[in-house]
Amino acid sequence: MELFIDTANLEEIKEAASWGVISGATTNPKIFSKEREIGDFRKKILQIMEIGDFPLSVETTAEDYLGMVEEAKEYASWHQNIVIKIPMGIEGLKAVNILEKEENVKTNVTAIMATNQAILASLAGATYASIFYGRVADCGYDPITVIKDTSQLFAAKNIKTKIIVGSIRNMLDINKALLAGAHIVTVPFQFLKKMAVNLKTEATIKEFNDIWKDMREKGLVRLRTEKRVPILTLVNR
Ligand code: E4P
Repeated sequence: MELFIDTANLEEIKEAASWGVISGATTNPKIFSKEREIGDFRKKILQIMEIGDFPLSVETTAEDYLGMVEEAKEYASWHQNIVIKIPMGIEGLKAVNILEKEENVKTNVTAIMATNQAILASLAGATYASIFYGRVADCGYDPITVIKDTSQLFAAKNIKTKIIVGSIRNMLDINKALLAGAHIVTVPFQFLKKMAVNLKTEATIKEFNDIWKDMREKGLVRLRTEKRVPILTLVNR
């Protein structure tokens, strides 16, 4: 079980990485657009890569397979941990086939809505297949069924492609995706924070800390490093 972070924001990636809970990051053009001005794209990608030793998915936007391959080779040449997100489709499959089998470039086939598509992505050689939980549900289909069928099939046939679930819209999506067999869920930072914080947990910790503070104030407990004030000193004052 792994979590990736679904963002291109440096501070969010740094913060989540410092918790020790993420093992990768995913982006797409829409995610980058949230960063307002990116400027030099290569520089931005390399800044993310400096944060840690983890795979970062960067998406191609060309519409034909040769364009995708060219774009992918350019991005992949920037850093060894870059994984190329290739859109699901006929052109995308052709690009994955070349990148994985001839160019030694890792791919993440993205925008998968059905198990049929995940099967094709794996056969083309994709390292990752990204199923879009929220967008599958937008179509009126059950993302759990798609994830479960794909994961059972991949396990039964010993397929190495890892299932990433993205397009997370709420906290429960994360648990359900993992329970359904996702190897990885890529989570926006706002949900990672919500996973860590719970009002009942905070109230409980405050209750314990307040009791301890009260005991210390009353002199009922001392830390070993705290020195006792000698009684003579007090008398002489
Ligand atoms: C991750 O790989 C996807 O690009 C992302 O989760 C898509 O999310 P969205 O459906 O909210 O755009």
